[in-house]
Amino acid sequence: MTRVLRHVSLPVAALCVVVACSPLGAQNDAAQAAVNAAFNKYKTLKEGKNADYIPALAKVDPNLFGIVLVTTAGKVYTAGDLTTEVSIQSISKVFTMAQVIQEQGVESIEKRIGVDATGARFNSIIAIEAVRNVVGSGAPEMNALVNPGAISATSMVTGANADAVWGKIIGIHNDFAGRPLKVLQDVYKSESDSNQRNQAIGALMFAYGYIKTNWQQAVDLYTRQCSIGVNAKDLATMAATLAAMGRNPVTGKQVMDAAKIPPVLAVMATAGLYDDSGKWLYHTGLPAKSGVGGGIIAVSPGKFGIAVVSPPLDDAGNSVRAQKAIADISNALKGNPLASATQ
Ligand code: DON
Repeated sequence: MTRVLRHVSLPVAALCVVVACSPLGAQNDAAQAAVNAAFNKYKTLKEGKNADYIPALAKVDPNLFGIVLVTTAGKVYTAGDLTTEVSIQSISKVFTMAQVIQEQGVESIEKRIGVDATGARFNSIIAIEAVRNVVGSGAPEMNALVNPGAISATSMVTGANADAVWGKIIGIHNDFAGRPLKVLQDVYKSESDSNQRNQAIGALMFAYGYIKTNWQQAVDLYTRQCSIGVNAKDLATMAATLAAMGRNPVTGKQVMDAAKIPPVLAVMATAGLYDDSGKWLYHTGLPAKSGVGGGIIAVSPGKFGIAVVSPPLDDAGNSVRAQKAIADISNALKGNPLASATQ
């Protein structure tokens, strides 16, 4: 079909209507083939282990495996489990940071929290102490995707009371996912009962001036946002909305200013997979974010968003199968933005 049309002199837009072009163009069949190939290759892989420091996460079925790719034109390619919800966990950090950037501008996060990788684990307290040395110099070297920076970002969302702040946090998650999401109450309770380390982090961030409001409320709302239930399709739609510069390609709604998306992607690129972010970027070039619930989202700007849900994690806290499947699929579809001049 494409070969025939190549000889017809139609404007590009008209050609795209005829052959259902997306930014992936004629690769649409290739997209489904790549998703299927990754699913079949990794469905029996048993590496990694569910997170268990939040007791509810240890009980999630480790065999759960779903892959969804959504193009910026709204085409959806799937394999495996698309409907089972897991807790979004740290992937929520992207969208709460996005909410702060949307309402307070790109400098807000940079000035208060910083946009530098810590090179440390996601809940490192040593990283807080290291950054403390530069607080006041106007250049904090933290980021909103590790727990201390994320709890601080949650504290920056404005609202007259906790309900008003929560309304904005869940609101931006809903807009990116394209449907109303709900908190998984069992996960919220389990993490609330066991989050003493995050409470310590919240108290320290208050003591050191990153959090200027009620730190206990910030830790609670952060815990709640981490407990939002999402399936692989929700996560892929959220990633595709980032890939489409803030326009949800499924609902058509512009959920964030396009100009504010690149800074969000930049923090994902440098810190989205914690101390393994460099390794990830080296092999894929994709801004991404993981969560200890087993999800990873990755963004090929202008092309597609992809998400994989698979609970067993590696030592850095990143889903083993999700990393492998996303890397294979993106490489098959030439999704690496750093290699675009070679493709
Ligand atoms: O605060 C925590 O420890 C969890 N709610 C989220 C951590 C997380 O997802 C780290 N991700 N890979």
